[in-house]
Amino acid sequence: MIVCHCNVITLADIHSVVDELFDADPWRVITPGLVYMTLGKRGRCCGCFPNAVRVIEDRVASRRTAGDLPARSPSREPAEAPGVPATATVIKLRRSA
Ligand code: FES
Repeated sequence: MIVCHCNVITLADIHSVVDELFDADPWRVITPGLVYMTLGKRGRCCGCFPNAVRVIEDRVASRRTAGDLPARSPSREPAEAPGVPATATVIKLRRSA
């Protein structure tokens, strides 16, 4: 089944790339742009992106349901960025200016 008519990208193409990206990093956010770039293509009319998002979500969900997702380790949690003030502080600074 063709998902993207501009680039002739099939469902199987997207599944293949999603599997490849998922295997490389199961926590990576996989977007249509990333999938198309991996295939050496790019969005033209981008009318297929909503369907591509759905295909990507379904594939990732099926991989997770199959138990392919490793347990999240606490050490992988992102640390709070140093030097970035909390949102409340930024709001107060903007209001006082
Ligand atoms: S249908 Fe995919 S970019 Fe146009």
